[in-house]
Amino acid sequence: MQDRTRPHPEIAETGGAAARPDARKLYVKSYGCQMNVYDSQRMADALAREGFAEQSGPEGADVVILNTCHIREKAAEKVYSELGRLRKLKSAAEREGRRMIIAVAGCVAQAEGEEIIRRAPVVDLVVGPQSYHRLPDLLARAERTPGVVDTSFPVEDKFDALPPASDAATRRRGVSAFLTVQEGCDKFCTFCVVPYTRGAEVSRPVTAIVAEAQRLARAGVREITLIGQNVNAYHGEGPDGRSWSLARLMARLAEIPGVARLRYTTSHPRDMSDDLIAAHRDLPMLMPYLHLPVQSGSDRVLAAMNRRHTRADYLRLVERLRAARPALALSSDFIVGFPGESDADFRDTLALVEEVGFAGAFSFKYSPRPGTPAATMEAQVPEEVKIERLAALQAVIDRHQAAFNRACLGRVFDVLLEKPGRHPGQLTGRSPYLQPVNVDAPADRIGEIVSVRITDVGPNSLFGALESPRRESPLYERAESLAAGA
Ligand code: 5AD
Ligand code: SF4
Repeated sequence: MQDRTRPHPEIAETGGAAARPDARKLYVKSYGCQMNVYDSQRMADALAREGFAEQSGPEGADVVILNTCHIREKAAEKVYSELGRLRKLKSAAEREGRRMIIAVAGCVAQAEGEEIIRRAPVVDLVVGPQSYHRLPDLLARAERTPGVVDTSFPVEDKFDALPPASDAATRRRGVSAFLTVQEGCDKFCTFCVVPYTRGAEVSRPVTAIVAEAQRLARAGVREITLIGQNVNAYHGEGPDGRSWSLARLMARLAEIPGVARLRYTTSHPRDMSDDLIAAHRDLPMLMPYLHLPVQSGSDRVLAAMNRRHTRADYLRLVERLRAARPALALSSDFIVGFPGESDADFRDTLALVEEVGFAGAFSFKYSPRPGTPAATMEAQVPEEVKIERLAALQAVIDRHQAAFNRACLGRVFDVLLEKPGRHPGQLTGRSPYLQPVNVDAPADRIGEIVSVRITDVGPNSLFGALESPRRESPLYERAESLAAGA
């Protein structure tokens, strides 16, 4: 379910490939957001062309890439402790006469650069998010001379230069896929490192995104989540030479046969344009679940955060979205203990949660990020206060989330069956609200969207029964009816 145990700051592995005996072995570990999961997959795809097969752990790997996150303190610290563990594996490999190349990628790489090699000499290569297309060359250089650092922002488009996933790799990754449409951020919230680590906002052209979505659909993907640090600021060049909005892009993607569901994340309230709100009304395959971070319920704090919206702006926006799509559920991010946050400010945040009634939310203690304006603000909030506020906020969020999930009991949901469940004969899928749903169904139904009546609500997932034994019409039939404009 949408809670602190899921999507957001997820540690996700890109998933191992079936190895050819002659293949060199690659292990990629992703920290942080969905952007990193996507980037890890692209890196694995680029290295697959160089004869690397991905595996699901570091043991015996020829190359290990840690794709790091710098959004909060703990994320970076986790990387350094992982490097400590890898040091032992690398020494063991050397004793056996093998080489293990260790690369640090992602936002910690971008933010810390050479410092990483100083602090962890076990690292052979440091590569920032804008240079992944150079990875094969950089690895070759690091093999010759360890200690390579590339944190530049090259002029060439890394997306153009990165190869697409093979159909086999896409199939292995499942029926729901991420697709990066936009990268970077120009908002400069005062707490956030993203504008520094990922750089300015860049949107991919529509034709490249459509081609990637078509490839995904061909390999069996049914649900595409468009991702970007500020995804709803998307303004990519369309085939007509004009700038297309996210809403327009989604309307185009909705025409691709096989694609049955669309989502997008993460959005900034300021960029919820009229046409995007209307898309929630007009585009049935856009799922009725929106992650729309608000960060705080206090206008004073929102201003200090440079969020460029007020509490009232946010509430008005929620109202408009719900008017467009009454079934819409919302999730959010919150930061507690931002510099200067008073008890009264914090109470405004609690009150906002009560007022909106989020179906889930992530909440974090403010963590000063070096180089960001908030890090040097006066009136930093003591750790004990942050801990207390976080617990209080999470309790309110949990209560709302539990109420939302309880209200699902007895309802019939379209569930996209994604993978085998924990028990034999069971599959796990996702409801429109991203809740995991466990249902008894044969494995050959993975990839289908089925009607499921919710019969039970667990702490982390829903349970249900297939409502109708009828199979979804085969893909090719639907593709034809879609093509015919049905
Ligand atoms: N401290 C705490 N939380 C942060 N986030 C971003 N930067 C910080 C920080 N310095 C949170 C925000 C954002 C989410 C991805 O991480 O809530 O929406
Ligand atoms: Fe960071 Fe704010 Fe940009 Fe989100 S909108 S990535 S919080 S600067």
